[in-house]
Amino acid sequence: MGTLLETEVAGLKLRNPLILASGILGNSSSLLKRVELSGAGAVTTKTILPEPTKGYENPVVVELPFGLINAMGLPNPGIKEFERELAEARSEMTIPIIGSAGGGTPEEVSHVAGRLQDAGADAIEINASCPHVKGHGLEIGSTPSSLRELVNIVRGSIKIPLLVKLTPMTPNIRSLGEASVRSGADGLTAINTLKAMYIDVEAMAPVLSNKVGGLSGPAIRPVAVRSIYELAPISDVIGTGGVKNWRDAAEMLLAGAKAVGIGTAIMTKGLEVFREISDGLSHYLKRKNLSVRELIGRGRD
Ligand SMILES: Cc1cc2nc3c(=O)[nH]c(=O)nc-3n(C[C@H](O)[C@H](O)[C@H](O)COP(=O)(O)O)c2cc1C
Repeated sequence: MGTLLETEVAGLKLRNPLILASGILGNSSSLLKRVELSGAGAVTTKTILPEPTKGYENPVVVELPFGLINAMGLPNPGIKEFERELAEARSEMTIPIIGSAGGGTPEEVSHVAGRLQDAGADAIEINASCPHVKGHGLEIGSTPSSLRELVNIVRGSIKIPLLVKLTPMTPNIRSLGEASVRSGADGLTAINTLKAMYIDVEAMAPVLSNKVGGLSGPAIRPVAVRSIYELAPISDVIGTGGVKNWRDAAEMLLAGAKAVGIGTAIMTKGLEVFREISDGLSHYLKRKNLSVRELIGRGRD
Protein backbone atom coordinates (compact mmCIF):
# COMPACT_ATOMS: atom_id res chain seq x y z
CA MET A 1 0.00 0.00 0.00
CA GLY A 2 3.05 2.20 0.55
CA THR A 3 2.43 5.85 -0.09
CA LEU A 4 -1.36 5.69 -0.54
CA LEU A 5 -2.13 6.63 3.08
CA GLU A 6 1.02 8.62 3.91
CA THR A 7 0.66 12.23 4.92
CA GLU A 8 2.57 14.96 6.69
CA VAL A 9 1.28 17.43 9.27
CA ALA A 10 3.25 20.21 10.95
CA GLY A 11 6.49 18.53 9.85
CA LEU A 12 5.52 15.09 11.21
CA LYS A 13 5.62 12.28 8.66
CA LEU A 14 2.76 9.82 9.19
CA ARG A 15 2.23 6.31 7.76
CA ASN A 16 -1.50 7.11 7.73
CA PRO A 17 -3.54 10.17 8.73
CA LEU A 18 -5.18 8.68 11.87
CA ILE A 19 -4.05 10.13 15.20
CA LEU A 20 -5.12 9.16 18.72
CA ALA A 21 -6.75 12.33 20.14
CA SER A 22 -5.64 13.65 23.51
CA GLY A 23 -7.11 12.29 26.73
CA ILE A 24 -9.03 9.29 25.50
CA LEU A 25 -6.80 6.57 26.87
CA GLY A 26 -4.58 6.41 29.91
CA ASN A 27 -1.01 7.52 29.61
CA SER A 28 0.94 4.33 30.22
CA SER A 29 3.62 3.50 27.65
CA SER A 30 2.04 0.07 27.13
CA LEU A 31 -1.30 1.64 26.17
CA LEU A 32 0.36 4.05 23.73
CA LYS A 33 2.25 1.11 22.25
CA ARG A 34 -1.05 -0.76 21.82
CA VAL A 35 -2.39 2.19 19.85
CA GLU A 36 0.60 1.91 17.51
CA LEU A 37 -0.03 -1.82 17.09
CA SER A 38 -3.70 -1.07 16.37
CA GLY A 39 -2.62 0.87 13.30
CA ALA A 40 -2.64 4.56 14.30
CA GLY A 41 -0.39 6.98 12.41
CA ALA A 42 0.52 8.93 15.57
CA VAL A 43 -0.58 9.27 19.19
CA THR A 44 -1.32 12.28 21.37
CA THR A 45 -0.81 11.98 25.12
CA LYS A 46 -3.41 13.11 27.59
CA THR A 47 -2.89 16.73 28.60
CA ILE A 48 -0.05 16.84 31.11
CA LEU A 49 -0.05 19.41 33.91
CA PRO A 50 2.87 20.58 36.05
CA GLU A 51 1.61 18.77 39.17
CA PRO A 52 -0.38 15.57 39.76
CA THR A 53 -4.15 16.17 39.78
CA LYS A 54 -6.98 13.86 40.81
CA GLY A 55 -9.67 15.16 38.50
CA TYR A 56 -13.34 15.26 39.44
CA GLU A 57 -15.47 12.81 41.38
CA ASN A 58 -17.66 10.37 39.42
CA PRO A 59 -19.75 10.57 37.35
CA VAL A 60 -17.38 12.16 34.86
CA VAL A 61 -18.99 10.91 31.63
CA VAL A 62 -22.56 10.87 30.25
CA GLU A 63 -23.23 8.85 27.11
CA LEU A 64 -25.94 10.16 24.79
CA PRO A 65 -27.23 8.68 21.51
CA PHE A 66 -25.25 11.27 19.50
CA GLY A 67 -22.13 11.75 21.60
CA LEU A 68 -20.59 12.02 25.00
CA ILE A 69 -20.33 14.71 27.65
CA ASN A 70 -17.22 14.43 29.81
CA ALA A 71 -15.88 16.40 32.72
CA MET A 72 -12.84 14.42 33.79
CA GLY A 73 -11.13 17.45 35.34
CA LEU A 74 -7.80 16.69 33.60
CA PRO A 75 -6.74 13.90 35.99
CA ASN A 76 -3.05 13.24 35.46
CA PRO A 77 0.22 12.15 36.97
CA GLY A 78 1.99 15.51 36.58
CA ILE A 79 5.02 16.07 34.37
CA LYS A 80 7.61 14.54 36.72
CA GLU A 81 5.88 11.15 36.83
CA PHE A 82 4.95 11.23 33.15
CA GLU A 83 8.48 11.90 31.88
CA ARG A 84 9.51 8.32 32.62
CA GLU A 85 6.42 6.90 30.92
CA LEU A 86 7.00 9.04 27.85
CA ALA A 87 10.70 8.17 27.58
CA GLU A 88 9.77 4.48 27.74
CA ALA A 89 7.04 4.90 25.12
CA ARG A 90 9.47 6.76 22.83
CA SER A 91 12.07 3.99 23.08
CA GLU A 92 9.50 1.30 22.24
CA MET A 93 7.51 3.00 19.49
CA THR A 94 8.18 4.12 15.93
CA ILE A 95 5.21 6.42 15.18
CA PRO A 96 5.29 10.08 16.29
CA ILE A 97 4.22 10.92 19.84
CA ILE A 98 2.57 14.31 20.31
CA GLY A 99 2.84 15.56 23.89
CA SER A 100 -0.18 17.57 25.06
CA ALA A 101 0.87 20.38 27.39
CA GLY A 102 -1.45 22.16 29.82
CA GLY A 103 -1.21 24.46 32.80
CA GLY A 104 -2.80 27.43 34.49
CA THR A 105 -0.45 30.08 33.08
CA PRO A 106 1.62 30.42 29.87
CA GLU A 107 4.76 29.82 31.96
CA GLU A 108 3.37 26.55 33.33
CA VAL A 109 2.38 25.31 29.87
CA SER A 110 5.80 26.26 28.56
CA HIS A 111 7.54 24.42 31.41
CA VAL A 112 5.54 21.23 30.70
CA ALA A 113 6.16 21.56 26.95
CA GLY A 114 9.94 21.83 27.42
CA ARG A 115 10.03 18.76 29.64
CA LEU A 116 7.81 16.74 27.26
CA GLN A 117 10.24 17.61 24.48
CA ASP A 118 13.24 16.54 26.55
CA ALA A 119 11.54 13.26 27.47
CA GLY A 120 11.10 12.38 23.78
CA ALA A 121 7.93 13.96 22.39
CA ASP A 122 8.12 14.51 18.62
CA ALA A 123 5.77 17.51 18.74
CA ILE A 124 3.88 19.53 21.33
CA GLU A 125 0.16 20.24 21.27
CA ILE A 126 -0.93 23.09 23.52
CA ASN A 127 -4.30 22.38 25.09
CA ALA A 128 -5.71 25.89 24.81
CA SER A 129 -9.26 24.67 24.77
CA CYS A 130 -10.38 22.37 27.60
CA PRO A 131 -13.86 23.70 28.42
CA HIS A 132 -14.44 22.44 31.94
CA VAL A 133 -11.40 23.02 34.14
CA LYS A 134 -11.20 26.33 35.92
CA GLY A 135 -8.05 28.29 35.17
CA HIS A 136 -7.02 25.97 32.31
CA GLY A 137 -7.57 25.45 28.61
CA LEU A 138 -10.26 27.82 27.46
CA GLU A 139 -9.50 30.29 30.19
CA ILE A 140 -5.96 30.81 28.88
CA GLY A 141 -6.57 30.29 25.16
CA SER A 142 -9.92 31.52 23.92
CA THR A 143 -9.01 34.97 22.62
CA PRO A 144 -6.42 35.94 20.01
CA SER A 145 -4.51 38.07 22.53
CA SER A 146 -4.34 35.37 25.22
CA LEU A 147 -3.28 32.83 22.57
CA ARG A 148 -0.55 35.11 21.24
CA GLU A 149 1.03 35.35 24.67
CA LEU A 150 0.68 31.62 25.32
CA VAL A 151 2.00 30.43 21.95
CA ASN A 152 4.91 32.89 21.93
CA ILE A 153 6.17 31.69 25.29
CA VAL A 154 5.81 27.98 24.46
CA ARG A 155 7.45 28.49 21.05
CA GLY A 156 10.44 30.00 22.82
CA SER A 157 10.87 26.93 25.02
CA ILE A 158 10.84 24.14 22.39
CA LYS A 159 12.49 23.30 19.05
CA ILE A 160 10.10 20.56 17.88
CA PRO A 161 6.88 21.21 15.90
CA LEU A 162 4.18 23.06 17.81
CA LEU A 163 0.45 22.48 17.41
CA VAL A 164 -2.27 24.53 19.08
CA LYS A 165 -5.57 22.86 19.90
CA LEU A 166 -8.40 25.31 19.42
CA THR A 167 -11.87 25.70 20.84
CA PRO A 168 -14.85 26.01 18.49
CA MET A 169 -16.56 28.17 21.12
CA THR A 170 -15.60 31.46 19.57
CA PRO A 171 -17.25 33.77 17.05
CA ASN A 172 -14.17 33.48 14.82
CA ILE A 173 -11.99 30.37 14.97
CA ARG A 174 -9.88 31.64 12.11
CA SER A 175 -8.68 34.61 14.15
CA LEU A 176 -7.59 32.16 16.90
CA GLY A 177 -5.75 30.17 14.23
CA GLU A 178 -4.09 33.26 12.80
CA ALA A 179 -2.95 34.44 16.25
CA SER A 180 -1.43 30.98 16.84
CA VAL A 181 0.33 30.77 13.47
CA ARG A 182 1.73 34.30 13.73
CA SER A 183 3.10 33.43 17.16
CA GLY A 184 4.95 30.41 15.82
CA ALA A 185 2.54 27.45 15.68
CA ASP A 186 3.31 24.89 12.92
CA GLY A 187 -0.19 23.44 12.96
CA LEU A 188 -3.65 23.60 14.51
CA THR A 189 -5.79 20.88 16.02
CA ALA A 190 -9.50 21.51 15.61
CA ILE A 191 -11.58 20.97 17.61
CA ASN A 192 -11.78 20.40 21.35
CA THR A 193 -15.15 19.65 22.97
CA LEU A 194 -18.05 22.11 23.31
CA LYS A 195 -19.41 23.10 26.73
CA ALA A 196 -22.52 21.06 27.43
CA MET A 197 -24.84 19.83 30.16
CA TYR A 198 -27.23 16.95 30.84
CA ILE A 199 -29.97 16.91 33.46
CA ASP A 200 -31.60 13.65 34.59
CA VAL A 201 -35.32 14.40 34.61
CA GLU A 202 -36.15 11.68 37.15
CA ALA A 203 -33.42 12.68 39.59
CA MET A 204 -34.07 16.31 38.68
CA ALA A 205 -30.35 17.10 38.86
CA PRO A 206 -27.31 17.35 36.58
CA VAL A 207 -25.64 13.97 36.07
CA LEU A 208 -21.98 15.09 35.98
CA SER A 209 -20.40 15.88 39.33
CA ASN A 210 -19.00 19.05 37.75
CA LYS A 211 -22.48 19.74 36.29
CA VAL A 212 -20.98 21.09 33.05
CA GLY A 213 -18.72 19.13 30.69
CA GLY A 214 -17.47 18.94 27.11
CA LEU A 215 -19.50 17.42 24.26
CA SER A 216 -17.65 15.11 21.85
CA GLY A 217 -18.61 12.45 19.31
CA PRO A 218 -20.87 12.49 16.21
CA ALA A 219 -22.88 15.55 17.36
CA ILE A 220 -19.87 17.86 16.94
CA ARG A 221 -18.54 16.55 13.61
CA PRO A 222 -20.21 19.19 11.42
CA VAL A 223 -18.74 21.88 13.68
CA ALA A 224 -15.32 20.28 13.30
CA VAL A 225 -15.67 20.08 9.50
CA ARG A 226 -16.60 23.76 9.30
CA SER A 227 -13.68 24.67 11.59
CA ILE A 228 -11.24 22.71 9.40
CA TYR A 229 -12.67 24.44 6.33
CA GLU A 230 -11.96 27.84 7.90
CA LEU A 231 -8.48 26.98 9.20
CA ALA A 232 -6.95 24.91 6.38
CA PRO A 233 -6.11 27.96 4.21
CA ILE A 234 -3.83 29.34 6.95
CA SER A 235 -2.19 26.24 8.45
CA ASP A 236 -1.78 22.49 8.62
CA VAL A 237 -4.77 21.11 10.52
CA ILE A 238 -5.42 17.92 12.48
CA GLY A 239 -9.20 17.58 12.11
CA THR A 240 -10.79 16.14 15.24
CA GLY A 241 -14.38 15.72 16.39
CA GLY A 242 -16.84 12.87 15.98
CA VAL A 243 -14.94 10.69 13.50
CA LYS A 244 -16.21 7.13 13.82
CA ASN A 245 -15.77 5.61 10.33
CA TRP A 246 -13.78 6.05 7.10
CA ARG A 247 -16.41 8.35 5.57
CA ASP A 248 -16.07 10.79 8.46
CA ALA A 249 -12.27 10.73 8.12
CA ALA A 250 -12.51 11.26 4.35
CA GLU A 251 -14.85 14.21 4.90
CA MET A 252 -12.29 15.94 7.14
CA LEU A 253 -9.47 15.34 4.64
CA LEU A 254 -11.70 16.71 1.87
CA ALA A 255 -12.30 19.83 4.00
CA GLY A 256 -8.51 20.34 4.10
CA ALA A 257 -7.29 18.48 7.21
CA LYS A 258 -3.85 16.87 6.74
CA ALA A 259 -4.56 14.33 9.46
CA VAL A 260 -7.54 13.20 11.53
CA GLY A 261 -7.82 12.78 15.31
CA ILE A 262 -9.95 10.02 16.79
CA GLY A 263 -11.25 10.13 20.33
CA THR A 264 -14.74 9.15 21.40
CA ALA A 265 -15.03 6.42 18.73
CA ILE A 266 -12.33 4.49 20.62
CA MET A 267 -14.56 4.47 23.70
CA THR A 268 -17.49 3.15 21.67
CA LYS A 269 -15.73 0.88 19.14
CA GLY A 270 -12.38 0.00 20.73
CA LEU A 271 -8.88 0.34 19.28
CA GLU A 272 -9.92 -1.71 16.21
CA VAL A 273 -11.37 1.54 14.91
CA PHE A 274 -7.92 2.57 13.58
CA ARG A 275 -7.60 -0.48 11.32
CA GLU A 276 -11.26 -0.32 10.29
CA ILE A 277 -10.91 3.33 9.22
CA SER A 278 -7.56 2.94 7.47
CA ASP A 279 -8.82 -0.12 5.54
CA GLY A 280 -11.97 1.79 4.58
CA LEU A 281 -9.96 4.81 3.49
CA SER A 282 -7.64 2.65 1.38
CA HIS A 283 -10.58 1.12 -0.49
CA TYR A 284 -12.11 4.54 -1.05
CA LEU A 285 -8.82 6.00 -2.32
CA LYS A 286 -8.29 3.09 -4.71
CA ARG A 287 -11.84 3.50 -5.99
CA LYS A 288 -11.20 7.22 -6.56
CA ASN A 289 -7.66 6.58 -7.86
CA LEU A 290 -6.19 9.12 -5.42
CA SER A 291 -3.68 9.15 -2.57
CA VAL A 292 -4.43 10.79 0.79
CA ARG A 293 -2.20 13.72 -0.20
CA GLU A 294 -4.31 14.20 -3.35
CA LEU A 295 -7.55 13.94 -1.39
CA ILE A 296 -6.64 16.69 1.11
CA GLY A 297 -8.64 19.85 0.40
CA ARG A 298 -10.38 18.40 -2.66
CA GLY A 299 -13.88 18.88 -1.23
CA ARG A 300 -13.63 22.59 -0.52
CA ASP A 301 -15.65 23.93 -3.48
C1 LIG B 1 -12.95 11.45 27.97
C2 LIG B 1 -12.27 12.54 27.20
C3 LIG B 1 -11.10 13.11 27.69
C4 LIG B 1 -10.46 14.14 26.96
N1 LIG B 1 -9.29 14.67 27.45
C5 LIG B 1 -8.62 15.61 26.73
C6 LIG B 1 -7.36 16.11 27.17
O1 LIG B 1 -6.80 15.69 28.20
N2 LIG B 1 -6.77 17.07 26.42
C7 LIG B 1 -7.32 17.55 25.24
O2 LIG B 1 -6.72 18.41 24.60
N3 LIG B 1 -8.49 17.05 24.79
C8 LIG B 1 -9.15 16.11 25.50
N4 LIG B 1 -10.34 15.61 25.02
C9 LIG B 1 -10.88 16.09 23.74
C10 LIG B 1 -10.52 15.15 22.59
O3 LIG B 1 -9.13 15.06 22.40
C11 LIG B 1 -11.18 15.63 21.26
O4 LIG B 1 -10.69 16.90 20.91
C12 LIG B 1 -12.70 15.69 21.35
O5 LIG B 1 -13.22 14.66 22.16
C13 LIG B 1 -13.38 15.63 19.97
O6 LIG B 1 -13.03 14.45 19.28
P1 LIG B 1 -13.90 13.07 19.33
O7 LIG B 1 -15.31 13.46 19.01
O8 LIG B 1 -13.26 12.17 18.31
O9 LIG B 1 -13.78 12.55 20.73
C14 LIG B 1 -11.00 14.59 25.74
C15 LIG B 1 -12.19 14.00 25.25
C16 LIG B 1 -12.83 13.00 25.96
C17 LIG B 1 -14.10 12.39 25.41
